[in-house]
Amino acid sequence: MAPRDTSSYYPLHVAIIMDGNGRWATQRGQPRLFGHRRGGERVREIVEACPRLGITHLTVYAFSTENWKRSTEEVLGLMSLLRSYIQREAERLRAEGVRLRFIGDRTRLDSRLQRLMAGIEKLTAGNDRLHLTVAINYGGRNEIVRAVRRLARAVARGELRAEEIDEEAFSARLDTAGLPDPDLVIRTSGEMRVSNYLPWQTTYAEFEFTGTLWPDFSADELADIVDRFARRERRYGAVSAG
Ligand code: IPE
Ligand code: IPE
Ligand code: MG
Repeated sequence: MAPRDTSSYYPLHVAIIMDGNGRWATQRGQPRLFGHRRGGERVREIVEACPRLGITHLTVYAFSTENWKRSTEEVLGLMSLLRSYIQREAERLRAEGVRLRFIGDRTRLDSRLQRLMAGIEKLTAGNDRLHLTVAINYGGRNEIVRAVRRLARAVARGELRAEEIDEEAFSARLDTAGLPDPDLVIRTSGEMRVSNYLPWQTTYAEFEFTGTLWPDFSADELADIVDRFARRERRYGAVSAG
């Protein structure tokens, strides 16, 4: 798709690395899961703000393929928070016109969580006011490898010739197939790295790093970041228009 050529426009697709829950809790003398719970609650305000800000797609990083390295207690706690998020928000998201989808390798998640995920995807499939995508057991390299396997299988079955593999054919086998690329990636908590998040999809995204810890991130801060984004010039390798 040709990039939009105006130098001042608002992002349609925002991807967020929701980081800093643990530090937020530790600063308050609380267990890390206390921060994760508060972090989960922030998602609602951000989801509600998106349509007001003209954002049509929001993709949030909830659990990475690397996060299994954390303690069993933290991993189980995060999984249980994800389950309760889906149960608690399902009806509200449906009523608000939000379409919820998940990216990441689901096969390693427990079967009850997998069923809940499939259920809410189905429940909200007809919505398109906001496309909310939650990355669970997501890693960019893992996603790429799984896409390569799908391509290899298609070639082995004779459905595709190797010469027909192009960027489009590859994108279509990613978990994000059908979603536009993010215009803007926001990472909270002051870390300036991408931690295996959407590497293929963000080759031309703009990045914003904020020191705010995720449980303190607000719709007002999102609005400020979006305004700053609108003033940036995206050249996509061409020469400046001005
Ligand atoms: C982000 O917060 C949430 C997840 C990775 C699940 P962290 O848990 O990484 O918080 P910090 O970075 O330790 O403060
Ligand atoms: C990235 O945060 C993953 C999520 C926000 C879910 P991490 O806290 O896991 O990333 P690193 O370990 O600092 O790179
Ligand atoms: Mg972190």
